[in-house]
Amino acid sequence: MSQHPPQAVQAVAPQALKHALAQFATGVTIVTTCDSEGQQVGLTVNSFNAVSLTPPLVLWSIDKHSRSLQAFEHSQHFAVHILASDQQALALRFASRIDDRFAGMEIQTGLGGVPLLPGALATLQCRTHQRVAAGDHIILIGWVEHIEQAATLSPALGYHRSAFAAIG
Ligand SMILES: Cc1cc2nc3c(=O)[nH]c(=O)nc-3n(C[C@H](O)[C@H](O)[C@H](O)COP(=O)(O)O)c2cc1C
Repeated sequence: MSQHPPQAVQAVAPQALKHALAQFATGVTIVTTCDSEGQQVGLTVNSFNAVSLTPPLVLWSIDKHSRSLQAFEHSQHFAVHILASDQQALALRFASRIDDRFAGMEIQTGLGGVPLLPGALATLQCRTHQRVAAGDHIILIGWVEHIEQAATLSPALGYHRSAFAAIG
């Protein structure tokens, strides 16, 4: 234990934290669900991560200001699509303000009526296991109930320092 008196904790500026976190390279996913009226909902997400193999748990977090929040707060299922490097345009589309992000796509229906997008490297269909309020985000923990994987191992879509990159 330090003999020194405790020092005041310096507040971390949000921009400084954002800048530091941008050094952390991630993959890119699109997470989808449907709202109480059956409308398709989805957004681009890079906060996705593994939690546990037994039981099979994953997590991601959603901004409390997200228009999709209500749907994810009520739905019992969501699907995580791990994007391939040729899906950058899709990642931009699901982060943009357009009205119908699903327009013109060949959508399949998964567990709980959740929309499934084509072309992902892997798709994890999850039952919502836990929601945890944490600062300006809600952490969603999903119990993976079904997995689909692409037949070929093409490069993944990555995100680093606010730019997309192919990985692998
Ligand atoms: C690469 C990338 C990663 C993102 N990751 C997240 C994330 O983890 N959580 C989140 O809430 N928004 C994330 N966003 C922002 C949302 O995709 C974006 O704000 C979207 O417009 C939200 O849609 P909505 O307001 O219709 O829910 C990310 C955007 C990009 C481009």
